[in-house]
Amino acid sequence: MSDPIEEYERKTPESGRLFAEANQYLPGGDTREVTYFDPYPTFVEDASGCTLTTADGEELLDFLNNYTQSVLGHAPPAVVEAVTERFARGNGFAAPTREATDLARRIVERTPSVESVRFTNSGTEATMNAIRAAIASTGNDHVLKVDGAYHGTHDTVLVGVEGAGRENPGIPASVEERVSTVPWNDTDALAEAFERRGDDLACFIVDPMMCNAGMIPPAEGYLEAARDLTAETDTVLVFDEVMTFRLAAGGAQERYGVTPDLTAFGKFIGGGLPAGAFGGREDLMGVFDPARGSVTHSGTFNANPATMAGGIATLDALDADAIDRLNDLGGTARERLGAVCADADLPMQVTGDGSFCNVHFTDEAVTDAASGTTHEAITKRFFLALRNRDVLVAPRGLMNLSTPMGEGEIDALVAAFDGALADVAPDLAADAT
Ligand SMILES: Cc1ncc(COP(=O)(O)O)c(C=O)c1O
Repeated sequence: MSDPIEEYERKTPESGRLFAEANQYLPGGDTREVTYFDPYPTFVEDASGCTLTTADGEELLDFLNNYTQSVLGHAPPAVVEAVTERFARGNGFAAPTREATDLARRIVERTPSVESVRFTNSGTEATMNAIRAAIASTGNDHVLKVDGAYHGTHDTVLVGVEGAGRENPGIPASVEERVSTVPWNDTDALAEAFERRGDDLACFIVDPMMCNAGMIPPAEGYLEAARDLTAETDTVLVFDEVMTFRLAAGGAQERYGVTPDLTAFGKFIGGGLPAGAFGGREDLMGVFDPARGSVTHSGTFNANPATMAGGIATLDALDADAIDRLNDLGGTARERLGAVCADADLPMQVTGDGSFCNVHFTDEAVTDAASGTTHEAITKRFFLALRNRDVLVAPRGLMNLSTPMGEGEIDALVAAFDGALADVAPDLAADAT
């Protein structure tokens, strides 16, 4: 057993040097909070399939996949070819292109609740515009969301991501006043919130599986209750499928059999180029039609042709068969990691569904943000112990699969998981007493 931080510093001197240099020009050494971990993040040079090559020449097995973006792995040849071909013919005109229609058609065909779509540059803009459509069409301002749920970085949805109170000094207090939160998976609390506020809600925005607090599937009947309560009060039900769209050809809404009014997409929807999309019922989306509606939606890079080409190639490769295979492999991973947890006889478990897994260092039931985000220090130590074994997951314990993976990659994950446990077992046993 070795100290994970010392071991990491020994393996990654070049990343340490690059991070010190980056800090001279970028506050915090990067432009994304989520890439940072103690003592400094790993710099990546190249990526192919499910392997990342770091600045220190290590090869890491990637079970993070840019927080679920790289569902086909890195640099999938069909996507590289489609993007390169489109880019070489000129990219970015103030005019529509046939590629946007082709990608929109694919999304509409695979997602029955989506009658029309608009493209954005991120999942953040997708949830922001879905909420705008809800406000414009209901005439109400108030937004209901789930405690601890992350829907991007615009003001409204940053309320209630981490605990209570003024967690974000950059967000006006007036925004916080028009957002309420409810615990994930608590149908009674949801019913109470609708009882209290149902008449002035614009929307309830919800991940159909709670992603941010550790891949927690919906409890029996929870999404159905959300559907009924929103329908009864004319509140717009927005599913944030930025991560979960990979769960079936038609997303988590198909897997769980509940139909939202609007859906936000992101991650792989642009084939690895910056992209998002939102869509849904035609009457709600009509507010963006300049001939009929009044809600402004523009953006220099919206529906960028190379991005659209990447999205088309990605959705064509990620068909129902590819998803079934990936979900089966995810089931194998959860089962085998669960067996490691059971053998170790330590307070830990693995949650998830489809091709998502998340380790939690508790033996209490994990049902919501409060129960899903315990033991953060150990979770981060465990992450570094895995990283030292050349397996990359998220510091919060999220793992997700990509299509180039097979049983061999699951073997490697399970072996690293087992080894990393030895590094944290003493802390874990001490923590549990
Ligand atoms: C569920 C969910 N919604 C929205 C977002 C925001 O997407 P983006 O980072 O593209 O703005 C994320 C990003 O991780 C997410 O996980």
